[in-house]
Amino acid sequence: MEIKTETDRLILREIIEADDLALFELDSNPEVCIYLGNNPVKNLEESQEIIKFIQIQYAENGIGRWAVILKETNEFIGWCGLKLYKEALNHHINFYELGYRFMPKYWGKGFATEAAKASLNYGFNKLKQEKIFAITDINNLKSIHVLEKIGFKIKEKFMYDNEEHFWLECQKESNTF
Ligand SMILES: CC(C)(COP(=O)(O)OP(=O)(O)OC[C@H]1O[C@@H](n2cnc3c(N)ncnc32)[C@H](O)[C@@H]1OP(=O)(O)O)[C@@H](O)C(=O)NCCC(=O)NCCS
Repeated sequence: MEIKTETDRLILREIIEADDLALFELDSNPEVCIYLGNNPVKNLEESQEIIKFIQIQYAENGIGRWAVILKETNEFIGWCGLKLYKEALNHHINFYELGYRFMPKYWGKGFATEAAKASLNYGFNKLKQEKIFAITDINNLKSIHVLEKIGFKIKEKFMYDNEEHFWLECQKESNTF
C-alpha cells in the first residue's frame, strides 16, 4: 500500500482489497449517489470488482482514485484523486479528471476541499500537468462550490449519463495554494 500524498488531517493512499467493506458502505448509500447516476451498489462483490478495476488503473496508468484516511482515527472516510481518461469525452482525450466521494458523516468538515487540493497539487507538480479537468452534475452545488474554491472554472455544459453536467478546468497558474 503506497501513500501518495498527505495533508494536515488526511493520508491519501492507494485503495486496497481490505477497503472493500468501507467502499461498500460508501457506494451503497443512496444519499451519496444522488448526483452520481442514482445507482448505489447492491452487494460487497460489486465493491470488490470496483477495487480490482481501480488497481488495474494503478498498474496501467500509474494513477487512479485514492483512499482518503483520517489520520486521527485511521478510518477510511472516502476517496479522492485523479483518473486518466484515455478515451474521448466531451472532445477531450488523454486527460486527468479530479473526483471525490465521502461518507456523509464526514461532510461539511472541509475534507473534500483538503483532499482535492492535495490531488490537484500532485497532478500539477508530480504529473506535470498544465490543466486538470472535473465533471459534475449541474445540481451538485456543494461539489461545484468545492471545485470553484480550489481554482476550477466552469467551461461548458454537456450531457453525461443522460444528465446535464458541467465541464470544469483548472489551470496550473490559477492554483494558488
Ligand atoms: C460533494 C462532497 C464531496 C463535498 O464534501 P465535503 O467534505 O462536505 O466538502 P467540504 O466540507 O470540503 O466543502 C463543502 C463546501 O460546500 C459548501 N456547501 C454546503 N452546502 C452547499 C450548497 N447547498 N450549495 C453550495 N455550497 C454548499 C460548504 O459551505 C463548504 O464550503 P466552505 O468550506 O466554503 O464553507 C460530498 O458531499 C460528497 O461526497 N457527496 C457525494 C458524492 C459526490 O457528489 N461527489 C462529487 C461528484 S462530482
